[in-house]
Amino acid sequence: MTTYRIAVIPGDGIGNEVIPPALKALDALGRRGGFSLAYDEFDWSCARYEATGAMMPPDGLDHIAGHDAILLGAVGSPGVPDHVSLWGLLIPIRRGFRQYVNLRPVKVVPGLPSPLRLSSPVDLVVVRENVEGEYSEIGGRLNRGFPEEMAVQEAVFTRAGVTRVVDYAFELARTRGGHVTSATKSNGIVHTMPFWDEVVRERAARFPGVGWRQEHIDALAAKLVLRPGDFDVIVGSNLFGDVLSDLAAAIAGGIGVAPAANLNPERRFPSMFEPVHGSAPDIAGKGVANPLGSLWSAAMMLDHLGEAEASAALRHAIEAVLAEGSVRTPDLGGTASTTEFADAVVAALPSPA
Ligand code: NAI
Ligand code: MG
Repeated sequence: MTTYRIAVIPGDGIGNEVIPPALKALDALGRRGGFSLAYDEFDWSCARYEATGAMMPPDGLDHIAGHDAILLGAVGSPGVPDHVSLWGLLIPIRRGFRQYVNLRPVKVVPGLPSPLRLSSPVDLVVVRENVEGEYSEIGGRLNRGFPEEMAVQEAVFTRAGVTRVVDYAFELARTRGGHVTSATKSNGIVHTMPFWDEVVRERAARFPGVGWRQEHIDALAAKLVLRPGDFDVIVGSNLFGDVLSDLAAAIAGGIGVAPAANLNPERRFPSMFEPVHGSAPDIAGKGVANPLGSLWSAAMMLDHLGEAEASAALRHAIEAVLAEGSVRTPDLGGTASTTEFADAVVAALPSPA
């Protein structure tokens, strides 16, 4: 029997509430599917930062480099600046493990209330560049406290970095039988974005069967609200992809339901799966967090591990519970607790073969 070693980092706030349901569902799927999962849990978090001065140990990545995958809840605490929690944990993992693809699927399924009046089905994926671009460490602050105080931040786009994420997007569109929309802003950002566009055009030529277009990010944001059904795979830089994926998540029922994968497609390092939402201090500890984002992230992890059947079973169970409609958490207008919703999903899994 295959045993997958999973590094589990629940993190802060509702991260600690949405991860246990995912593990419960994974264990149930393993029992049905003839595989098992061995979890190593790590307390890396803002709570750890407040106690020890570091989000994770200095050699943290060495502890999890040998795992098959990483499952993360959320990090962030009102007492700790967000750049500390992000740069102390999430970004080192994404960059250190070359997780250059951030994959965020968005699907409107029956029972998930979209705030929009949709005229066609929405089933799209945002492919966000995850290790370079606008989120770079290059820059600095000068003249602090003086009237001429200033800040400079460089956006870094490399040919290798753009090529690999664009190729991933085109390959994904090919397997989905879909098309690619590239997010740009080459009318306003005159160096990096024309370069991005050039690389996209070059790589697109290698995928003759896949249609594509580019859209300026502002117009793209508007179209995503007006006609989300027109999109299939959207590829964007780190910043554009970040913003678009939260926007797209909102279209499909809110931030609490959205899953994400941080992928090292070459599998040299483990990939990381995490709900899109944060630690939600406003509802933490109340037991009402929606575990959907976490459950869907677990389904993405199963796909990555090669357990496609178990992944499909989990997705079907989630969709069945949503479509049935009587069990839902307060963010979706219901009264169910985190555990009640997760238990309903586990109960809806197909019986063992
Ligand atoms: P957030 O996603 O934590 O919360 C935004 C709103 O959505 C809140 O009203 C919250 O109650 C609600 N919400 C989020 N997830 C939910 C769920 N599963 N079920 C029901 N409602 C849910 O974003 P916010 O408030 O901007 O950030 C809070 C903290 O989380 C900050 O410290 C931030 O830095 C951190 N954060 C961490 C992320 C991560 O670990 N990947 C991502 C986003 C934020
Ligand atoms: Mg975001």
